Amino acid sequence: MFIDRKFPKSRLRRLRLNSNIIDLVSENDLSSNDLIQPLFIKENLKGTEKIESMPGILRFGEDALLKEIEDIINSGINSVALFPVIDSSKKNNQGTESTNSSNLICKSIRNIKEAFPEIIIISDVALDPYTDHGHDGIIVDDYVDNDATIEILKSQSLVLADAGADIIAPSDMMDGRIGIIREALEDANYKNTILLSYAAKYNSKFYGPFRDAVNSANNLGNSSKASYQMSQKNKNEALHEVAMDINEGADIVMVKPGMPYLDIISSIKETFKIPTFAYQVSGEYSMLKLAINKGWLDENVMLESLLSFKRAGADAILTYSAKDISMEIKNK
Ligand code: PBG
Repeated sequence: MFIDRKFPKSRLRRLRLNSNIIDLVSENDLSSNDLIQPLFIKENLKGTEKIESMPGILRFGEDALLKEIEDIINSGINSVALFPVIDSSKKNNQGTESTNSSNLICKSIRNIKEAFPEIIIISDVALDPYTDHGHDGIIVDDYVDNDATIEILKSQSLVLADAGADIIAPSDMMDGRIGIIREALEDANYKNTILLSYAAKYNSKFYGPFRDAVNSANNLGNSSKASYQMSQKNKNEALHEVAMDINEGADIVMVKPGMPYLDIISSIKETFKIPTFAYQVSGEYSMLKLAINKGWLDENVMLESLLSFKRAGADAILTYSAKDISMEIKNK
């Protein structure tokens, strides 16, 4: 299609003459509406606590949480994703605390919604922050049992919907869970609860710092999630996963991790044309942030990496840098 646009009739540098022209013809951009801030909430913590493997990221006690949400809203962000760090005495092999309607996350959702009714709350559905073995499901004979796990995920979803979560995000990768959760939500009359499926979630080493953050790393030890999370070698399988989840009632699908899997985001968006999110996971964030803090990389690499998600077709991005980037966009 570019066949007769020869030099000097075509000089592509004309459209790079200055920043206003560059912006005028830009194909993609990032706005605060595209960003979702993940937050770690820790039980019985007063104030905040640093997470060693995630520079600049904190765990928030229940007292400090509302102030942080206020700052996030003031930065221009409308959505947060909540992750619990529960008391280790409450972890067991079934992750039953996940279904307690007054657990840390349900309480936090109610508190946030009371103070800031407009903010969109995304709540993870999976058992790993609640199990003493660190897996996302229930273990039967050394294997994470799919159908038994879904039963508990269903109860977890209902308590989250009841607490007021706008979006429920199963991140567990059990087969069939979207359909069963959707049916349970309909039956309980939560007809507008949005299901964001972590549809293409890879078995990735980039989740390392997150597992430190929610204190599941030690529980998990050397055990692998390969029997439920996707193989790093596959691409067609991601389309199969997404097709299944759409058929079962997902409203939005997500790819995770982000930057090493841009090809997957792009194929999903091209194929299904449905809302597609990307998760710039903890390891991606930490490696960039550490290099920025050391002065080895310019701080702009964070925005550059997020633009790659937009080019690939992502509609929104979960990123630990959401608040900072949103402030930057606002002050530009
Ligand atoms: C748990 C869950 C994980 C992440 C989000 N939800 C970790 C895992 O699957 O082990 C990782 C997010 C990140 O690394 O930032 N189901």
